[in-house]
Amino acid sequence: MSVPESASGTATGPAGGAGHTALLEAVGVTKRFGALAAVDGADLTVGRAEIVGLVGGNGAGKSTLIHLISGVDLPDVGRFLMEGRPLRTGSPAEARHHGIETVYQDLALLGELDVTANIFMGREWRRGVPGLRWLAEKSMKTEAEELIRKLGYDFRASTRVRYLSGGQRQAVALARALLARAKLILMDEPTAALGVAETRKTLDLIRRFRDEGVSLIVIGHELDDIFSIADRIVVMRKGQTVADLRTRSTNQDEVVNLMLKGPLPSRS
Ligand SMILES: Nc1ncnc2c1ncn2[C@@H]1O[C@H](COP(=O)(O)OP(=O)(O)OP(=O)(O)O)[C@@H](O)[C@H]1O
Ligand SMILES: [Mg+2]
Repeated sequence: MSVPESASGTATGPAGGAGHTALLEAVGVTKRFGALAAVDGADLTVGRAEIVGLVGGNGAGKSTLIHLISGVDLPDVGRFLMEGRPLRTGSPAEARHHGIETVYQDLALLGELDVTANIFMGREWRRGVPGLRWLAEKSMKTEAEELIRKLGYDFRASTRVRYLSGGQRQAVALARALLARAKLILMDEPTAALGVAETRKTLDLIRRFRDEGVSLIVIGHELDDIFSIADRIVVMRKGQTVADLRTRSTNQDEVVNLMLKGPLPSRS
């Protein structure tokens, strides 16, 4: 069962640094769109093997913050550290190189291509000798089916993605993260388009990733779901990260209150 290069452990020991280094740290990050600060001096820390629920009202800046971490957008101010090392922002390739994978509901998948092609996109396995290489189609298909099965699904890897259900598509996206041995998976409203059964399955998968040492940032509006998976809950309001709470020591009333009013310093 070979998985390609990028040997990346999920061990807790930081390499060489003093004490425990967070997996990801965002420090004073700001992103403006014209006059609007969509993300406004946000701080965020993600530990190892941890699920962080990112919540906030519409327009609070959650998706923008995720785009900044995944390199889709460039912050105006602030910086990111991944395992204590600066993360060059504005570069999706750099984010992926550091083990950051983003799961969008549909966006990242090509409907006309089959499951295997979508899982291996940009990471194709090749065979042969130097100067004469060809795609290892059969091994990739076998591996794709293995990954899908590991995720608890059993559709065929030769199926075109456009024929898949929302939950199955999400399994394809997660299989990409599994193949990449992601350390951090970013999920923007992963269950928004799913039915009850598929939502439950997705939440279980998120927990399983965490149990295997992966960290996840999950954006969600459904607080029951967020409370059922998250170790910590970070609340955003008006572009700021206004609270960082242990799920065990808070409740939905407190979170909703922070989303609506926040502990923002009252200025006049
Ligand atoms: N590309 C853009 N250009 C201009 N404004 C933008 C852009 N992207 C986001 N915004 C604005 O930035 C603010 C934050 O948007 P963002 O999508 O991050 O919010 P969100 O917390 O994800 O909200 P929702 O829960 O509705 O998805 C909003 O006011 C939004 O209109
Ligand atoms: Mg959003």
